[in-house]
Amino acid sequence: MKEFQSIKGTHDLLPDDLKTWQRIEDRIRQIMQQFGYGEIRTPAFENTELFIQVIGTDTDIVNKEMFSWVDQGGNALTLKPELTAPVARAYLQHQLGNKNPLHRLYYFDSLFRRERPQKGRQRQFYQFGAEAIGSPNPEQDAEIISLAYHIYQDFDIQEMEVCLNSIGSAEIRPAYLKLLRRTLDKYRGELCNTCETRLGKNALRIFDCKNLMCQEILDIKAPCIFDSISADDRQHFDSVTCILNAMGIPYKHDNKLVRGLDYYSHTTFEIISSSLGAQDALCGGGRYNGLIEQLGGKQTPAVGFAAGVERLILALGKMEDLDSAPDIYFITLGENAIIQACRMAHEIRKKCGKTVILETLRRSMKAQMRDANRYGTKLVIILGDEELQKNSVLIKEMSTGSQNEISMDGIIQYFNKKL
Ligand code: HAM
Repeated sequence: MKEFQSIKGTHDLLPDDLKTWQRIEDRIRQIMQQFGYGEIRTPAFENTELFIQVIGTDTDIVNKEMFSWVDQGGNALTLKPELTAPVARAYLQHQLGNKNPLHRLYYFDSLFRRERPQKGRQRQFYQFGAEAIGSPNPEQDAEIISLAYHIYQDFDIQEMEVCLNSIGSAEIRPAYLKLLRRTLDKYRGELCNTCETRLGKNALRIFDCKNLMCQEILDIKAPCIFDSISADDRQHFDSVTCILNAMGIPYKHDNKLVRGLDYYSHTTFEIISSSLGAQDALCGGGRYNGLIEQLGGKQTPAVGFAAGVERLILALGKMEDLDSAPDIYFITLGENAIIQACRMAHEIRKKCGKTVILETLRRSMKAQMRDANRYGTKLVIILGDEELQKNSVLIKEMSTGSQNEISMDGIIQYFNKKL
C-alpha cells in the first residue's frame, strides 16, 4: 500500500507545535489591535490575472512560483502567493475607501509559492501582515515599520536589523531604468541568462538575482535608484527616518533594497536576522501608492508589510512552556460508570469552565493514573462500581495524594469552590 506523505515544501502542525503557534498568533493579534488594525480574511484563491497585474510579469513569483490552474469552467485561478493584491482587490470590491479615508487592515494567513524548499522557505507558509490604505504621509510608513519592529521586540528577537530605502515615485522610474540599462549593457555576457532577459524587460528585477556574479556587478557598477529619486521623495524618506529616530528604532539605509514585487514606490524596507541563515528576511514591505489606481480605483496611497510566521518561530528558538496541564483527569472503572462519568465531565466543563480529560480507552486504574501523571493534571476524579453505589466520586489531589469522597450531586459546587 502506498504510504502518503505531506507534499514537498508543506508541513503538518501537530498539537505540540500549535501550542507555540497559538501563543504567537494571539500575541500578534493583540498587538495589531493595539495599533488600531482590524482583521481581513480573503479567499484562498483569486483570478490569476490579479496577481500578474499587481505583482508584475517579470517577478520570480509570477514567473515561476505560482500554483495556477484552469478550472472546469475555464477560469484561470491561482492559490494566493501573497496578500497585498487580494487585500487591494477586497478594498475596491467593498468600496472601503468610500466608508473611511484610512483603512488599517491586518491578516494572519496561509500562502503558496512553488519555491525550492529549504530552511525558512516552504511552498505553503504563513504570513502575518498589515496594510494601511489611505495615508500618503511619512508617519504612516513609520507606523508600519514600528508595528513590525514592535512585534519582534515583543518576542524578544535579539539579532535583527531594519533595512530601509526609497525607490521614489513611479515618475522617476523610466529615467533611472534607462541609466541602469545603459550601465549594465556593458556587462551583457557576464550577467546570468535571466538577468540578460530582465535587462530588456524590467531591469529593476535584476536586483532580485541571487547569482553571485550578477550581485557583484550590481554592487560595484550599478547606479542606485535612491540617487535618482526626486526632492519630494527624498523629503518623504528623511521624514520617515526622522520619526524612526524619535521612536528609537535603529535602521540601516540599504540603497540597493528594491524588493521583489513590482508594486512598490517610495519606502521599501525589510527586517533581517542573521540567525535565520540564507533566508534572512523576517519581514518585508513598503509603500505602494499606485496599486489601487492600477486596479481601477482612485489614486490611493498605501503602505504595508508582511512577515513569515515560520521564520519568526525559527528566530525565536525554544519558547518556555506554558502550564497547559488540564485541571481534571476523570478515571472511570467498569462499564457502569461510563454514562455518569460522561455526564459529569460535560457538566464540569460547562458549569465550572474546567478542562476535563475523560478516559475512553477503558484501561486499568494503573494505566489511567499513569496517563493523568503524563498530562500533569492537578486533580483526578475516580468513579468505579463502589462509588456508583454510594452515588459519590473520589477526588484525588495529585501533588499530595490526599483523597476526598464527594457526593455526585455536590460536585459542581465543589469544583466551583475548589479550582
Ligand atoms: P515578501 O517579501 O514576498 O513580501 O514576503 C514577506 C515575508 O514572507 C518574507 O520576508 C518572509 O518572511 C516570508 N516568506 C516569503 N516567502 C516565503 C516562503 N516561501 N516560505 C516562508 N516564508 C516566506 C510580500 O509578501 C508582500 N506582500 C509584503 C507587503 C505587504 N508589502 C506591502 N504590504
